[in-house]
Formats: sequence, structure tokens, C-alpha cells
Amino acid sequence: MTQQPNAPSDTAPYGRPGPGDTSTAAATEWWRDAVIYQIYPRSFADGNGDGMGDLPGIRGRLAHLRDLGVDAVWLSPFYASPQADAGYDVADYRATDPLFGTLADAEAVLREAHDQGLRIIIDIVPNHCSDQHAWFRRAVAEGPGSVLRERFHFRKGRGDNGELPPNDWESVFGGPAWTRLPDGEWYLHLFAPEQPDFNWDHPAVQDEFRSILRFWLDLGVDGFRVDVAHGMVKAPGLPDIGHGEQARLIGSQILPFFDQDGVHAVYRSWRTILDEYPGERIGVAEAWAPTLERLARYVRPDELHQGFNFHYLSTDWDADALRAAVDASLSALGAVGAPATWVLSNHDVVRHRTRLGGGLDRARAATLLMLALPGSAYLYQGEELGLPEVTELPDEVRQDPSFFRDSGQDGLRDGCRVPLPWSGTEPPYGFGAGDTWLPQPDDWATLTVQAQTGDPHSTLELYRSALAVRRAHPGLGAGDAVEWLPAPEGVLAFRRPGGLICTVNTTAEAVHLPLPPVRQLLSSRAPFAGPTPTGPSAAPVREIPADTTIWWAE
Ligand code: NOJ
Repeated sequence: MTQQPNAPSDTAPYGRPGPGDTSTAAATEWWRDAVIYQIYPRSFADGNGDGMGDLPGIRGRLAHLRDLGVDAVWLSPFYASPQADAGYDVADYRATDPLFGTLADAEAVLREAHDQGLRIIIDIVPNHCSDQHAWFRRAVAEGPGSVLRERFHFRKGRGDNGELPPNDWESVFGGPAWTRLPDGEWYLHLFAPEQPDFNWDHPAVQDEFRSILRFWLDLGVDGFRVDVAHGMVKAPGLPDIGHGEQARLIGSQILPFFDQDGVHAVYRSWRTILDEYPGERIGVAEAWAPTLERLARYVRPDELHQGFNFHYLSTDWDADALRAAVDASLSALGAVGAPATWVLSNHDVVRHRTRLGGGLDRARAATLLMLALPGSAYLYQGEELGLPEVTELPDEVRQDPSFFRDSGQDGLRDGCRVPLPWSGTEPPYGFGAGDTWLPQPDDWATLTVQAQTGDPHSTLELYRSALAVRRAHPGLGAGDAVEWLPAPEGVLAFRRPGGLICTVNTTAEAVHLPLPPVRQLLSSRAPFAGPTPTGPSAAPVREIPADTTIWWAE
């Protein structure tokens, strides 16, 4: 294995400093307005024809991301893992799972992505590992009293014979957060029983993760998406919650195992490591904090760079609610000098085409709204194709662990993880060869990358145009200024620096809006996808169709 520093590639396309560009002039804080595309490796592209996406598959499809115009890619886990939670159960943090390829394949993805001007962020999973991780296996094998058990949360049970869990915590996936071993001790797992929680008070755990960060930074990754970033530190004594409310995957409850103040010391330590490396390596918190103010604590100047904005993701398609979420986000994050982030879909939630309840028109409008906001935006693979949630998966093909736990969540995560359609008219639509790990619907022929490319009405071309306009108008993503303009009920209108105006009609009827003289740059509504400058006009009133976002230039 070659230890490769962050790839020394040249200036990226579009005139922005590329990954690995370590000159002082390159200290552009690229992440403040980056568009970051999430790859869920098992569902992106299959290089070896086993029905499961992999690293060679990603490598072969980097051109799609370059053509789309994103700045960076976040790769969900490809670590060695028994796949009890699709790779979020890590057995070895310094190895790739053979399902996805080799470490050399990972290095090739990094190198070639960098050559194309794309940065690569990888997932890091520090709250828990796999029950097949070497530390946990030894801790179990050595029995009660083993010092290795101190690296996890092992406890005796309650009740006369220790037959009751040590406290009343519930797993996010449903059922008790504790599992009893045959030797009588219980161990804590906030997620599946195959995902034991680390004890972050233990110095060996802290040291190990600092070393893991360095391992991947040395290989050239541009940063980390921190899984359950708010979960590692638990309240002292592991106190009962006292009520039976189920913790949610995207939740905001105040709980003794989430968002404890002690977790911030971990990020201050990680930030010093990130800052030691050239090329602006970043950390992104997947923190489900109860409020935006609590989320902002993860992105203070000496902690992580970004935090996912689940408050925005959870906001309904309602103009007042959206405006309030935007204002609250900009205010809370701006107070600590961090950029806002915006996200509509990921591998844990129902795809926004389906979730927002308005089909493709509304999904496209929501995307153009998101991409006009100041800060950084996250795209989830397949949303650029307008993929809907697959709601018809039969139970026997489902793989989400939460689906199998009695009182758990609704098990809907498989429906957003169906392998992407690339080309052709029937499954596997160019994804690989043969059956895919989750079946693809048989009516996706019009949704493939191939079918949409060059069609000005397609969602793919809308995303490509939107990202091209965003690059051409740097003021769009930058800063934190949104100037709200007067608009009727159900409509949002705002100006961004550089004279770009965004109008969003969330209602089911067309509206007429007085605007200053403007020309249309891009509309989310077919047939107006693609830059269609119509020339400056003094027309005082513009029509915005139902469920439509339009970008205008003054
Ligand atoms: C959040 C991840 O996004 C999700 O997929 C996973 O199941 C949990 N963390 C546990 O790692």
C-alpha cells in the first residue's frame, strides 16, 4: 500500500482551487459554499457485477459527478464490516470491505476524483463499532473483569439476578439499548445489538480515533462526515430517562446519551489534527441537536466545519415555515461564524420527491430553493434523476435493521437506497450485471442518466444547469445574506448578492409577482429547465407557476 498525501492536483475546473492545492492563496474555505454529493456506495454503481455497488463502480462513474458540477463527494462507509447496518457497523477502520473493493481501489477513487477537481469526504463512525471489531470480540471473550470491557459500556443488570437491563434506554432502532451476554453482563448499543457503543471516557478510544483520522488523512481524504456526532459522550452514571419515548434517528429529544457537553472536547482535539494537514480538510457533524443553537456548538471555530441542518430537512413545503427555518439557521450558525448547510435527502429519510408530497414539480422547486440559499448544499445520489422513494419493496427483500426490531421505526430506509439507474430500459439499468441487492422498479427506464442526458426538460439537466449557474454567480452560495422581498402568502422571494432573485411558489396555483426588471435564468418547471435568458424586461409582474422556483438576474 502506498501512503499517498492529499493528491497534489492542479487547479480544479471552473477556476477554483482544487483539492490538494496547498498554496496560501488556496485557503479559500471551499467548504463554505460547496455542493457536496452523497454516494451510498452499495447503491451507486457496481463494478464487478455482483449486484452491490463498489469502489471500482464509483471510479468508473466519476465523470457523472464532474459533469453534474458538484464540488465534493461524501462517501458513506466502505470499511470492513459484517453489514448489520449497511456498513455503519465497522469491524476494521483501516480496511475496506471486500464487498466494496480494496484499499488500493479507495486510493484510486481518491486520486482520480482529485484529478477531476472533486474533493472526497468519508464517513467516520465513532459512536459505535461492530460486534466483530477486534476490541469487542476480545472484550467478550475475556469475560467480566476484562480491562477491554472498559472501552465499551458493560454493566451488570438490575433485578435480583441481573436479569433486567442496567437502565431504561432504548435503541434508536427499537427495543432495549442493552443486550445481555451469556456471562450475565449487559453491553450498551444505541443502535443494533451488532453495534456496541464505545466508552469515550476511555483514553484508548480517544487515541485510536485520532490515529484513524490520521490514517485516512494521510491517504488523502479531504474530510470526514461524523456519524452520530452528538452521541459519543454519555451522561455520567448512565441515568434513566424516566419515560418511554423512543429515540428517533432524526430526532430532537433531550436525552442522556445525546448532545452532552463533553463531546465538544473531542472535536476540539480533532480540529487540531485536521488543521495540521494541508488543503483545508473538514469535519461535518451528523448531529441531531434539539435546537439550531445547540447544533451551532458543533461548528464553533475550533470544532467542526459544518453540521447537517436536519431542522431544514424536516420543514414542510410551507412558505412561512421555510422562511423561518432559513432565518433561524442563518442566525444560529452565523453567530458562531459557520456556514449554513442545506439538505433535502439522504440515505436515512424518504426521498424528497415523495416526502414533500408534491411529486417531481415540488421536488425540483425545493432543490432550486435550496441551491439559492447561502451556504453549502448536500445532494443525495439519485435526486438529480428525480428518483422517487421506492415504497413497494416486499418485506422479504428489506435489509434495514430498524425494520426487524419490534417497536422500532417504520423501516422505510430501504426505499431510498435502491440502486441507481444509469442506462438501458430494464433492471439493472446499467448499474451492474444481474440482480441488484435491492430490486429496482421496472418503470425507471425514463429516469436513467442516459435517458435524461440532453433532454432540456429532464431533472438531470435541471441540476446540471443549476450548478452551472451557481458557479457562474459566486454570490449565490457565498456569505449569509438573504434579503427578503415582499411576496403574497405561500410565496417566497429573496435577493442574493450579485443581483440574483429567487422566487418560490409553494402553492397549488400560479401567482403573479411584481419584480424589478429581471431576466429569467432558470426555472424548476419544465419546459423552462436550463438557462433561458429572455433579456431584461421592465414587465412589472411575473408569473410563477404552482410548485415552482425561478431564478432571475437583475
Ligand atoms: C446515522 C447513519 O446515517 C445511519 O444510516 C446509521 O444507521 C446510524 N447513524 C448508525 O450508525
